[in-house]
Amino acid sequence: MTTEADALALDATDAGHRDLFDVPPAQGGDYAEVAYFAGNSLGLRPKATRAELLEDLDAWAALGVEGHLDAARPWLPYHELLTGPASRLVGALPSETVVMNSLTVNLHLLMVSFYRPTTSRHRIVIEDAAFPSDSYAVRSQVAFHGYDAEDAVIRLRPRPGEDSLRTADVVEQLGGDVALVLLGGVNYLTGELMDIPMITKAGHAAGAVVGWDLAHAAGNVPLALHDWDVDFAAWCSYKYLNSGPGALAGAFVHERHLGTDLPRFEGWWSTEAATRFEMTPESRPPASADAWQVSNPPIFSMGPVRTSLELFDKIGIDVLRERSLRLTAYLENLLADVPLQVITPADPARRGAQLSLRVTGMRAGELSRRLRFEYGVIADAREPDVLRLAPVPLYSTYHDCWRAAAALAEVMA
Ligand SMILES: Cc1ncc(COP(=O)(O)O)c(C=O)c1O
Repeated sequence: MTTEADALALDATDAGHRDLFDVPPAQGGDYAEVAYFAGNSLGLRPKATRAELLEDLDAWAALGVEGHLDAARPWLPYHELLTGPASRLVGALPSETVVMNSLTVNLHLLMVSFYRPTTSRHRIVIEDAAFPSDSYAVRSQVAFHGYDAEDAVIRLRPRPGEDSLRTADVVEQLGGDVALVLLGGVNYLTGELMDIPMITKAGHAAGAVVGWDLAHAAGNVPLALHDWDVDFAAWCSYKYLNSGPGALAGAFVHERHLGTDLPRFEGWWSTEAATRFEMTPESRPPASADAWQVSNPPIFSMGPVRTSLELFDKIGIDVLRERSLRLTAYLENLLADVPLQVITPADPARRGAQLSLRVTGMRAGELSRRLRFEYGVIADAREPDVLRLAPVPLYSTYHDCWRAAAALAEVMA
C-alpha cells in the first residue's frame, strides 16, 4: 500500500475542487472532516448553493407575486436557465432537455409516451439489479396496460458466478416481443457502466424503444444522448449533480420524437409559454421536451440545480472524467490489500466513479457504521453484502481514498 504521504503528494499535484464544497465534520477517527464516498447517493453541498437559494427566497419576500416576472431570476421562465447546462451535460440539444419533477415521476411521464404495448409486443427489459423504484415503475406500467408483470417484465441477470452484465447477453434478450428497454446507464449496485450506444442500437434493431435511467451516470460519465439516438432518458440531480436531497430531476426526449403525436399527460406547463396565460381549454404544446412538463415548478428547488450545473459547465465533464479515472484506479489499487472482492468491472471503460465491494464476515450496514464512527469514512451500504465507495472527482481526494482503504484493511484484519 502507498503511504499517507504519497496520497497527500498526489493531492498536491492533482487537486480537485474540494474548496467549492462543504465537507461534513467527521464523527470518529483522526481527521476533522469525513472522507466522503457517498456522492453516488447524495452529493455534497456546493458552497455557492446557500446564497443562491437565499436570493430566491428573498425575492419572494421582496416581490410577492411580481417575482414571477420581476425577480432577478424570474420564476415563470426559471426552468429555462437549467435547460442549456443540463443539455450540455448529457449531450443533448436544449430542445430535447427539461429539468422537472423527480426521477421516477419522469420515468412514468416518459413511459406514458414511450411504452405503447400491443399483444404481440408488450415486454419491458430491465436489469434484475435495477433500482427498486424502476422495477416498481415498470411493473405498475405493465399492470396499468392490463398485462401481467411476471410475464411482461424481463429481468436481465449476469451469468452464474459473474456480477455484471455482458453487452452481448443483453442484446441477445432483445426479441421481437420487447416493447421497451429501460436500463440504468450505470448500475446503482455494481457500478457497471452499460454500453449505452450499442444497446440502444440493438434495441432499435429489434423494434423496441430504448430509454435510460441515468441517475448514476449524469455528472459521472460523459454522455451523448442525441448522437447515440436514445429515445428518452431521465436522471436525478442529488447524486453526482450535488443539488440536494430530493432535488429536481432531468428528462431527455430525442429530437425525432418532438412535436409528434406521441401521447403525453398534460397540465398548464405543457403548453407553450407565449400563450399560457390566454387560459384556453386546449393546450398548444411546444415542439420540445418542455411539452412533458405538467405543473409549474418548485422555484426554491431550481437554484441548487442551477448552481451545480454551472460548475459542470465551467469545469467540464470530460476533465472531471479524466480525474475520476485516476482517482478510481488509485482507490482500486489500494483496495487490493483489503480482503474484500470488488464486484465493479475492472475495465475503467465499463465503470464510472463507483467501486462496489462484496462484504463478508459481517453485514454491509455494520461495516459502514464502523467506518463512519471509528474512522470518519462515509460509505454506502446496500444490505446484505454490498458496500459502495464513490470517489467523486469534484471533491474527493487521494487522501480520502487512502483513509478508506486503511480503515477497511484495519476493520477486516
Ligand atoms: C437508479 C435509480 N433510479 C431511481 C431512483 C429513484 O429516484 P427518485 O426518488 O428521485 O424517483 C434512484 C434513487 O436513488 C436510483 O438510484
